[in-house]
Amino acid sequence: MATSLVLDASSQAPLHRQLYEALRASIVAGRLSPGTRLLSTRALAEQLDLSRNTVMNAYTQLLAEGYLVGQLGSGTYVARELPERRPAQRALIRPPSKGASPPPISKRGTTMAAAHAGLSATLGLIQSGMAFRLGTPSVDAFPSELWGRLLHRRWQRSWREVLSHQDPRGYLPLRQALADYLATSRGVRCGPEQVLIVNGSQQAISMVAQVLLDPGDAVWVEDPGYIVAQGVLKAAGATLVHVPVDEEGLNVEAAIRLSPNARLATVTPSSQFPLGITLSHRRRLELLQWAERSNAWVFEDDYDSEYRYVGRPLACLQGLTPDARVLYTGTFSKVLTPNLRLGYLVVPEALVETFVAARIFSDFQSAPLEQAVLTDFITEGHFSRHVRRMRTLYAERQALLVEEARRELAGLIDIGPADTGMHLLGWLPPEMDDRTAAERAAAAGISAPPLSAFRGQSSGRGALLLGYAAVPERDISEGVRRLAQALR
Ligand SMILES: Cc1ncc(COP(=O)(O)O)c(C=O)c1O
Repeated sequence: MATSLVLDASSQAPLHRQLYEALRASIVAGRLSPGTRLLSTRALAEQLDLSRNTVMNAYTQLLAEGYLVGQLGSGTYVARELPERRPAQRALIRPPSKGASPPPISKRGTTMAAAHAGLSATLGLIQSGMAFRLGTPSVDAFPSELWGRLLHRRWQRSWREVLSHQDPRGYLPLRQALADYLATSRGVRCGPEQVLIVNGSQQAISMVAQVLLDPGDAVWVEDPGYIVAQGVLKAAGATLVHVPVDEEGLNVEAAIRLSPNARLATVTPSSQFPLGITLSHRRRLELLQWAERSNAWVFEDDYDSEYRYVGRPLACLQGLTPDARVLYTGTFSKVLTPNLRLGYLVVPEALVETFVAARIFSDFQSAPLEQAVLTDFITEGHFSRHVRRMRTLYAERQALLVEEARRELAGLIDIGPADTGMHLLGWLPPEMDDRTAAERAAAAGISAPPLSAFRGQSSGRGALLLGYAAVPERDISEGVRRLAQALR
């Protein structure tokens, strides 16, 4: 293991972190070649005059990230295939062997598989790479100790209540806390009886499709838009009507021209995904009036309204007029973690019973223990403190990304600050194809999906979507440098 590992005792970075960085850099640069056996933790600790724990910490991190393989104590080697060079996403399903007849599945199953096939390449690009992972909050900033304490306390104090809980709409105190939060912060008009706790907004759109749509029904979707929810609609047999988005958000007039009899319109009014535009007041009224006139519904996806960095948050669409024909959803995926799988759906009173039936026939209810812990997290004030902290952290990360990108990527990417969200759009020169740029970035270990992957019928200048929320500052700087190399 002939490589120089120089650590700086006066640096503020902990020694294990410095060692991890130095080893990772040597591996990525090829100074430690694939297959090389590393010194044992004891030998390296002695050589560098460090504690063995420091070395073990660094090795454990590199093993977890896939730069090393093997086991501490019985031989650790540099991985033959580095995480940067691995295919974006391994095929989840093995293709059928040649000549084998496909297993008999329903028309719905076939539609679903086709919808997923259209998505998987883009999802692969999102999930790979050190930076700039799209749409997820920082794992490091998750309040893990506090969450652990609340979890433990809940279990000790009320495990019987938790284990006997059985309301398909969710834990009542959580629905109450949410109804209060949504009324004050988002202007939602609802009582707790209209709030359903769901396993993320993905389940919300899935239930909305089941309850409100028949196969073949037309649905307005934003173009460009959130292709994962569009996948759910396609899988349900809906006909997607791609509606252009302009500087005021979804173009309602164009939508009416394209498909006046659509049954449902799906929108992200507070921060249009992926362009970050806020739907104008005029368009909001037009949308609600259309739904009223045509007996149609609006699905309002308020997925990251907590992240507004400039000005005051706009109230939601659902509360704009009494009895608006809106189903409103929000999620804890952006504020806490998508792995919690908790979100909420607010439905009009007249639909509550049907949605309860849909939930029972789907999976009865969301896991009660997590709901109870989340209730404590909200009602004891931790939620609003956490949101404020995350808003500051992400605003800093966004500013750093803009600064680094403007310096390192000048002439390659045009980028500016955004008022909302967790990602920025890096606009490419008009002659550069964004898919090619995204593939080059992926080959350099950078996740930067192309804007065109989120387009339906629309076309326009190419861009890369650069998520910053989940990316530590050092990886933002390193990621920008690597992206610049990849694009040059
Ligand atoms: C537009 C949009 N809606 C919703 C979600 C959240 O989905 P879920 O709550 O199912 O994790 C995301 C996450 O990426 C999103 O980008």
